[in-house]
Amino acid sequence: MTEGLRAFITGLPKAELHLHLEGTLEPELMFALAARNGVALPYASVDEARAAYEFTDLQSFLDLYYAGCAVLVTEQDFYDLTRAYLDRAAAESVRHVEPFFDPQTHTARGIPFSVAADGILRALADGERIHGITSKLIMAFLRDQPAESAGAALEEARVHGERIAGVGLDSAEVGHPPEGFAEVFAEARRRGYRVVAHAGEEGPPEYITGALDVLGAERIDHGVRCLEDPALTRRLVDERIPLTVCPLSNVRLRVVPDMASHPLERLIEAGLMVTVNSDDPAYFGGYLVDNYLAAAEAFGLTKDVLVALAENSFAASFLGGADKIARIAEVHAYAASAEAL
Ligand code: HPA
Ligand code: ZN
Repeated sequence: MTEGLRAFITGLPKAELHLHLEGTLEPELMFALAARNGVALPYASVDEARAAYEFTDLQSFLDLYYAGCAVLVTEQDFYDLTRAYLDRAAAESVRHVEPFFDPQTHTARGIPFSVAADGILRALADGERIHGITSKLIMAFLRDQPAESAGAALEEARVHGERIAGVGLDSAEVGHPPEGFAEVFAEARRRGYRVVAHAGEEGPPEYITGALDVLGAERIDHGVRCLEDPALTRRLVDERIPLTVCPLSNVRLRVVPDMASHPLERLIEAGLMVTVNSDDPAYFGGYLVDNYLAAAEAFGLTKDVLVALAENSFAASFLGGADKIARIAEVHAYAASAEAL
């Protein structure tokens, strides 16, 4: 049964809308890049690195996630990181991805914005040429750093024009509400960027409202805590604001105690536009198929619900209308041809 379910989910055409490229850094590649760049790691081995991935909250994860970024030095490093993710994604029938990167994490270490962006964009172009995976790159601002630093990143993005499609907001959430980033997001919107923001992962529902009203977010990353506020939940349903939910992340960062307590099914039942995503798969023990499968097994999701989640992933994307329609038709053609579960 599980193998049949895994095969069905693996073949299901999907989009991934909440994926931090720095969070796809597998320990094997971390060690290879550390050797290539002469960077010392705090782990003696790949196994020791994996064993250290035992988190108590978002901050305990971010500490290791930012430390791992030290091995990313050259344009080729960012290419290799992104290409490794895309090769895996292709094997899971990911057709479209809107990945994040954190430019300030790299510029703060003396790595120029364009070294990161050029490597990532070259890999994304190859991903489309080789695997047919389309993409829209999103630069995420660090909410625990000053807004001026986000503003500097926005300036550095200029030379990349439309090759960077959107702006987001990530890193430590509690104590860092959206309001401090009103100006930089307003400027980003003026320059034509699409807007998303992490909100309601560890932070309260008010941060979701702030992301919508102050930042102009078109999509909420995580957003799972919206259910604590029925009026906000109704608003998200009425306005069809997509949530990019990351089930394995929420369990690993102890947003919820276990998968059985995860609000995914309640979010779907409330009528919300839910998508399933992998967040930082190298750190959380699973890529996109693993996230769909964990949810499917925990809640006994039917084939129809899994198909609806895949449809939502394209509907909630920043693809143009014709591309959305074509990808959604592909989802339904697959569902019709796949054997019944
Ligand atoms: N939340 C906030 N910031 C992040 C995350 C996340 O899940 N992953 C990488 N940066
Ligand atoms: Zn995230």
